[in-house]
Amino acid sequence: MKRNADYFSRLAKQKNFPARSVFKLQEMQERFGLFEAGQRILDLGSAPGSWSKYCLQLLGPRGLLVGVDLEAVRMEPPAGPRYRFLQGDIFSAEIAAQLGELGPFDVILSDAAPRTSGSGLVDGEGSLQIAERVLEIAAHTLERGGHLVVKVFQGGEEGRLLRRMKSIFRRARAFKPKASRSESREIYFLGLFLVRKS
Ligand SMILES: C[S@@+](CC[C@H](N)C(=O)[O-])C[C@H]1O[C@@H](n2cnc3c(N)ncnc32)[C@H](O)[C@@H]1O
Repeated sequence: MKRNADYFSRLAKQKNFPARSVFKLQEMQERFGLFEAGQRILDLGSAPGSWSKYCLQLLGPRGLLVGVDLEAVRMEPPAGPRYRFLQGDIFSAEIAAQLGELGPFDVILSDAAPRTSGSGLVDGEGSLQIAERVLEIAAHTLERGGHLVVKVFQGGEEGRLLRRMKSIFRRARAFKPKASRSESREIYFLGLFLVRKS
């Protein structure tokens, strides 16, 4: 059933998550089984921290979660899994070097998005550049057999990104979670079981 945005915002507050976006990840996890306890997860564009908090709850003491964002996170990591947060730009060489040391990862998630400008064209292009960078990071740090989730804004050239993902993952598809506002142009591309690096 499609529920309205307020419903998910209220529910996030009740469950003590900093953002309603947690329900988008929860739905993808329940439907596609993206990760499990003990794995190493990279969460790109992780602030304010809902996706990270959700992952940390499932990871268990042997798991590792690395979050990256320009902004600081607003969540207290639960005790248990190992957690690192890197504040910085996913386009920077410094972040790439640190991820090289912390990886490889079993799963890479990216909910990163540009600050919206009001122009669909500009935002679509910004989102595509971020998604392409995420794919580059995945080429260096995602384990073979690993999974990738990346957000893009629809309406531009994003189809070519999905075609590329289809050529490097065993399965790739677009998915619009129920908690994503219907008027939002965001959609998630999922790459399941990395077969080759580029
Ligand atoms: C929609 S929010 C992510 C919400 C997060 N998944 C959660 O559940 O709390 C998008 C984030 O992407 C981050 N972002 C955008 N461009 C970035 C970049 N180049 N490097 C790092 N983070 C970036 C923004 O700062 C913002 O916090």
